[in-house]
Amino acid sequence: MRVLDRPLLRHLPRLADRLPFVALGDFPTPIDDLAPVMRDARLSAPAYVKRDDRSSTVYGGNKVRTLEVLFAEALEGGATHVVSTGAFGTNHGVATALHAPRVGLDASALLFPQPASPCALENFEVLAARELHAIPHWSALPPAMLAASLRARLRHERTYVMVPGGATPRGALGYVNGALELAEQVAAGEVPEPRTIVVGVGSTCTTAGLLVGVHVASLLGVGFRAPPSIVGVRVTPWPVTAKRRIVGLAVRAARLLAELAGEPRFAFDAATLGAALTVDGTQLGRGYGHATAAGRDALVRFAAVEGLVLDTTYSAKAAAGLLDAARRGAAAPLLFWSTKSTAPLPSAAPSAPWWTRPWVHHASRP
Ligand SMILES: Cc1ncc(COP(=O)(O)O)c(C=O)c1O
Repeated sequence: MRVLDRPLLRHLPRLADRLPFVALGDFPTPIDDLAPVMRDARLSAPAYVKRDDRSSTVYGGNKVRTLEVLFAEALEGGATHVVSTGAFGTNHGVATALHAPRVGLDASALLFPQPASPCALENFEVLAARELHAIPHWSALPPAMLAASLRARLRHERTYVMVPGGATPRGALGYVNGALELAEQVAAGEVPEPRTIVVGVGSTCTTAGLLVGVHVASLLGVGFRAPPSIVGVRVTPWPVTAKRRIVGLAVRAARLLAELAGEPRFAFDAATLGAALTVDGTQLGRGYGHATAAGRDALVRFAAVEGLVLDTTYSAKAAAGLLDAARRGAAAPLLFWSTKSTAPLPSAAPSAPWWTRPWVHHASRP
């Protein structure tokens, strides 16, 4: 497999043949100034936005970085088919459906119900136009994932089944690379060194990767004199986003990185990583997928940045978390990690299977 130009591979050359990436995204993603948003909110702290919403014109957002490593692992293992799992509005599922064919993989999705927001319904249309398997509740996921593997085996296919959000240690390495990309932009003077990074936390994959990545960059002396604090804004409830779980995934990702790179100093412990992480549960509202007033307010304010369209499930709640952190005097400069794709979705024929009709029943009441 061709070695891609990714900061993580450049800084740790021993990873080149041990941690494959496939090219899906347009990196580095740009950084914009949030000054107009902060002024409008009567906040004086300097703040910036890392535009991972623009990580690909096919379909952007945070999952592109995760899939660059997970698809590479799938292909290395000889898989021909990848299965994403998640709520029916899953961005991870849409990213999988739209990017997998670009690297020769078939894709399907294993979905469970969620509140029907406009973004979720838009995503579901894309997923419903492709192979999908519906389950009545998230708790049925483990046996359904097993069944997906068995079905594939019967068809003599090698299938790579991903957990929701791709939240495995390897998946998190995509965001270790993302943090190094930011560190390089800091080193190049594109943005002042952030002291606080704010990001939405759902499956924990992105936050765990960033947490490790800022420590790796700081240890390597790239961009950060000290690791910036990470604020993970909950978009899914505890215990999915318990701090212990986020740090636990980060520790496992750090160990994997240390092993692959042959650099034991990257195996950061839970105390070191945990000290840099705050989990903000105040923006979740009624729960996953339920819009909040603070999120809607942030969505309107952040539209002052060109092309920055937030969604009420993830990025608007995280943006509200950034404004709140600034109000509470969090260390500045702040940096908002924008995670929801702003690429237009392909139009899809409305072909959802009849048994998922109750899911979209409340479509007119976002
Ligand atoms: C737009 C968006 N932002 C944030 C997140 C949270 O990321 P993670 O699941 O890696 O915690 C997700 C998860 O799917 C997402 O789709």
